Amino acid sequence: MDKNKKYLITSALPYANGALHLGHLSGAYLPADIYVRYLRLQGRDVAFICGSDEHGAAITIRAKKEGISPKDIIDKYHSLNKSTFEKLGISFDYYHRTSEKLHHETAQGIFKKLLEKGGELEEKTTEQYYDEEFKQFLADRYITGECPKCGHSEAYGDQCEKCGSTLSPTELVNPKSTLSGNTPILKKTKHWYFRLDKHADWLRDWIKNGMLDGKQHHDSKTWKKHVVGQCLSWLNDKEGLQPRSVTRDLDWGISVPVEGADGKVLYVWFDAPIGYISSTRQWALENGKNWEEYWKQGPDKLELVHFIGKDNIVFHCIIFPAMLKAHGEYALPMNVPANQFLNFEGRKFSKSKGWGIEQHEYLEEFKDFPNKEDALRWALIRNMPENRDSDFKWDEFVDHYDKDLADNLGNFINRVVVLTNSYFEGKVPAAAIADDEAAFIEKLKPVKKLANSVIDEIEKFNFRAAAAALMELSSWGNQYLQDAAPWAARKSDPDAEIIKESLFVSLQTVAALSILCEPFIPFTSLRIRQLLNLPKAKNGILELVEAKLKLGKPLIPVGHKIGKPAILFAKIHDRKDKSRLEIIERQKAKLEAVLAAEKANERPPIKPETTFDDFTKLDIRTGTVLTAEAVPKTKKLLKLTVDIGIETRTVVSGIAEHFKPEEVVGKKVLLLANLAPRKLRGVVSQGMVLMAEDAEGKLGFVSAGEAWGNGLTVR
Ligand code: MF3
Ligand code: ZN
Repeated sequence: MDKNKKYLITSALPYANGALHLGHLSGAYLPADIYVRYLRLQGRDVAFICGSDEHGAAITIRAKKEGISPKDIIDKYHSLNKSTFEKLGISFDYYHRTSEKLHHETAQGIFKKLLEKGGELEEKTTEQYYDEEFKQFLADRYITGECPKCGHSEAYGDQCEKCGSTLSPTELVNPKSTLSGNTPILKKTKHWYFRLDKHADWLRDWIKNGMLDGKQHHDSKTWKKHVVGQCLSWLNDKEGLQPRSVTRDLDWGISVPVEGADGKVLYVWFDAPIGYISSTRQWALENGKNWEEYWKQGPDKLELVHFIGKDNIVFHCIIFPAMLKAHGEYALPMNVPANQFLNFEGRKFSKSKGWGIEQHEYLEEFKDFPNKEDALRWALIRNMPENRDSDFKWDEFVDHYDKDLADNLGNFINRVVVLTNSYFEGKVPAAAIADDEAAFIEKLKPVKKLANSVIDEIEKFNFRAAAAALMELSSWGNQYLQDAAPWAARKSDPDAEIIKESLFVSLQTVAALSILCEPFIPFTSLRIRQLLNLPKAKNGILELVEAKLKLGKPLIPVGHKIGKPAILFAKIHDRKDKSRLEIIERQKAKLEAVLAAEKANERPPIKPETTFDDFTKLDIRTGTVLTAEAVPKTKKLLKLTVDIGIETRTVVSGIAEHFKPEEVVGKKVLLLANLAPRKLRGVVSQGMVLMAEDAEGKLGFVSAGEAWGNGLTVR
């Protein structure tokens, strides 16, 4: 990494039409934040850019449904999302919005530039679907129909969410307007098409070779396999690289900056990624920076990285780079380390089904949970869907907290702080190795090695592996202290060098941990720094740590007075204090309730009406099971004899998988006594025992009650 380089790091601009859930956080925001915090610790010149994506049909359709204006929606969710990110420690340098004037100007400027260049944007009049009732052209989410590729019945005009294909409205089978529900008509309209087809060749090379303007990426910077795979399959699809319409007939969006284009706006996926640029411009404006240094320099001066979820890959790896290249002045991304999806307790997040938890909901529900922000960050990092989909589970959340944060990291730090306070009045002891660089280097080798793996893995965007290396460092510290056992040495010789040395080494390790953990669990980093009585880990400090470990210089000097012990993480599983576990249990109970409600809804609907006359044809009698035995060579059948007062019937009943014969004998039952006899496996069945089935398919006897005698008639 180069000191004079600029780092422009982006996270996907979330649509401002709803709150974000944990899947979004772990997909595009948390990984970016880890990387950015790491870069800052390394003293790099970083801008971390995001904001609200406020155009697009999702917003106008929702507004229409709720009878409010798009502005009401975007204002609400812009503030909610922005403040929630802040609370979770997502450290954007700027969170802009695409409804701002500066953004409109920036997007229009790029559109105009492409027009003026010639050959990049092409004007075409075509027939498009039109809703006569609403007097509106239908594109994207305004139209649904059957997916031509997979048959999914509710594919949108721009995409099928089932199979992931990108579509155009005219490909849909049986199209319907989402406004009126009517079948649309075709009507002529003029639009501007971006000539993506002209960029096919260099895009293919660029993606295939992981090349950046002719320069091979640093090894550690190769693109993820699943990202390259998705891009290549798109590039190899003949329909992939057609000219794409970048304007729409809508009244919500950025107006097309061309004379006579009234009622037309830029397509949301044209303007949204430009939001990265306008957000950078606004940040630069307010902070005395030159935005162009962060967008318009060669790859040795500038590193652009987009953090996104896998559903945004094509836009960030193909279409937006092509737009930037077509414009001519902008840098292309160095990497797009997209994540796959996070599921929630075995299913997709679904707000309508009550499955999953939103970021702000989490903060609310966990408001009494200590370290809730880092607890969540840590659980999400340990299970991040970096290369394949992963699954968030509350039980794993607990494990990651108790095993990693409490038993490993928290325990180590606590032991070191307690022992330093009790043996050395809280001062870093003057161990002999403090002045012996070679000996210090030797002793701290494992720390240096593990610190380097944390760094290497972050550089490669392997945040799970980086977090695992961080835990290894803390485990090493625990083991080292255990083996050195200063408490044992103290018994025989209170001045033994090993006592000073082991705490000196341990304190250096805690100091290293306090900095290395910052990208992952920044709130905890600050608390560890406070325990050590050191200032917050500031920009550039990691560079210093690396240099000191190399030269054998202490990270925390002899004589420095640390703070008093305080528990960093109280375990969730605690015999005495159940409060934290209760918060988790409440979450699990909510999911149980969702499942139970679903089960209840799965019960068969009421059958069509029947008549009293039909009902009276049934002769149902009370009875008692006298004997029961399995019907040989069957799994399901029991042969019962049932006393129904006037006689004893033999009945074959399909309940053997639910009841053992001995459980059935003596049961009071209802028997349908005039069912036509039927031979089952050689046994004539003279009636049917009535059973009831619950939502899980569990059977129970329908009974007239213990006190009733046999032979009564049900009517
Ligand atoms: N709003 C889009 C989504 O949530 C992401 C836009 S990313 C940007 O899927 F690059 F266009 F900004
Ligand atoms: Zn499909």
